[in-house]
Parts: sequence; structure tokens; C-alpha cells
Amino acid sequence: MKRDFLCLADLTPEQLEALLDLAITLKKEYRLGGNRPLLANKALAMIFQKPSLRTRVSFEMAMEHLGGHAFYLSPDEIKLGERESIPDVARVLSRYVNAIMARVFAHEHVVALARWATVPVINGLSDYNHPCQGLADLLTIAEKLGRLRGVRLTYLGDANNVLTSLLFGGALTGMHIRAATPKDYAPSAQVLAQARAIAEKTGATIEWFEDPHEAVRGSDVLYTDTWTSMGQEAEAARRRQVFPPYQINAALLREAGTYVGVMHCLPAHRGEEITDEVADGPQSWIFDQAENRLHAQKAILVDLLRGQ
Ligand code: CP
Ligand code: NVA
Repeated sequence: MKRDFLCLADLTPEQLEALLDLAITLKKEYRLGGNRPLLANKALAMIFQKPSLRTRVSFEMAMEHLGGHAFYLSPDEIKLGERESIPDVARVLSRYVNAIMARVFAHEHVVALARWATVPVINGLSDYNHPCQGLADLLTIAEKLGRLRGVRLTYLGDANNVLTSLLFGGALTGMHIRAATPKDYAPSAQVLAQARAIAEKTGATIEWFEDPHEAVRGSDVLYTDTWTSMGQEAEAARRRQVFPPYQINAALLREAGTYVGVMHCLPAHRGEEITDEVADGPQSWIFDQAENRLHAQKAILVDLLRGQ
């Protein structure tokens, strides 16, 4: 049966660990100049309803490195659900390609693609979550700190798609995740409950804080993302009023500690959720994190297309 990659919470801890191990192997091979043609003659269709730099380029390069082919379908090209229904797009593409990656506004659209496609569907970001980013984030933390279990990560800012994937990924791998957000922008009760249900089995902990200062104390990693995600632009001015206390700047980083790593999924809005000083400073992991999208997604592709 075909499998999809829509949400980290769909995986078991063992499946997630195996994906991370595969990503590490593929990264080593790439670094040594020995990519294997694991995806020879495979094609990936990439549907985008929103802009992208990392997701588009890293998926395209991942396919190329492994001997396959990827092509980009712009928001105007398909007009998912407008020019053609999602079930029809899914069934037609399945006759041409071996996998579909989609970046959508509404999560139910990527779920519908997966429901109707007969080939694997990968969620390249939805309003609900960003599992490819989450996998690359776990890979980055594991490389930097040598472990995931017990790592204390504090996310600051908006409880968005990126945080949802971090909560699920952290819960599955036994991390201690804190989310510090304004009250009105806190993680949903459903996401917290799901992450905590996983955490109960793995020894992870999931906590919500309103006070960013209290939340960063004792952290190993600080993480932030834009205050206004794609699709929320009309709220940008209001959000800019509420979020400044959650900015990762030199003072907040000092409160967290000298050895704390800083992460951001990018694109960054420098001067808003993160300052230049921190993003470009010695504790920043952000470009290693961006690179790891490539290696993490190779693992996802190889895993889904293995044996097909
Ligand atoms: N982090 C991330 O997904 O970046 P893009 O929006 O550029 O793909
Ligand atoms: N939360 C951001 C992530 C961008 C990669 C957004 O959805 O716009």
C-alpha cells in the first residue's frame, strides 16, 4: 500500500528514528561525493499554492542528486480546486509521476490529494503543520548536540505550522519542548493534547508559557519563526504590536545561556522575530538547518519510493 508523509504524528518513534538515520547516511554519502541513484527514473510533481525558496530548491536538488527528476507547478498553473478538482488533479498526476509534493493553504487539501492519489503525497507545508521542516530540525539538533532525548527546546512567537511539527517531532523523540506565545496565539488544545499523548509514552514533556523570560531559562535550543505566516498577511500590523516581547535578541539569548543554539526555519524577518546579531551570531544554526532540508527530504523520498 502506498504511504504518504503528511504529519510527523502519523509516525511511530521507531519510524521517525529510521528516517533520521537514513537522512544521516544520505548526507554522509553526499558529502563524500557518492550519491547513489536511488531514485533513478522517478519523477516528483511539486504543487505550490504559496511561495518557497528552501522547499522548492531542496526537493528539486534531492531528486536530481538521487538520479530522479522533479518539476515545479506554480500556483497559477493548476489552480488546485478552482480550474480542476483536487481528486481529479491527484488521479491525473498519479498517472504521470511517482510522487507528489504539495504546499497548500488548507491542510485538508493535502489530505484530499493523498486520499485520491495512487502515489505517495508529501506535505510541503500547510496551515496546520510543516513536517519536512520538522524532520530537518530534528536532524539538525541531533547533529549539533549528539542526541534528541532530553534536549530542552524553547520555541518563541506564534503557535503556527512549524511549531506543530516541532511539538510532534519533539514528543516522538523524547525532547522537552516549551512554547512561549502570547495568550491569543497559543497552540490549540487539540495539538497540545495530541503532542502530550505521544509524550506520555516517550518521556517527552510539552509545556506552554506566556512569559518568554521564564520559558527560555535552562534551554539548550531557542527556535523562532515569522509572526505572520503565509495567508495571514491581513493580520500583520496587529501581530507586530503583540509579538515583540518574544523576539530572539542578544538580551534574551543571554538569559538562555552561552551554549544555547538558535534555530529559525526561514525566511526570517530580521528585526522582528530575530535580530541580525543573533541570526548571524556564533550561536546560530540557521543555515545548517536550511541545508538539512535537502538531506531530510532525500530520506523521505527514498523511504516512500523504496520498492515502488
Ligand atoms: N522553511 C521553508 O519551508 O522555506 P520556504 O518557504 O522558502 O520553502
Ligand atoms: N510559518 C511560516 C513558515 C514558512 C516556511 C509560514 O507558514 O509562512
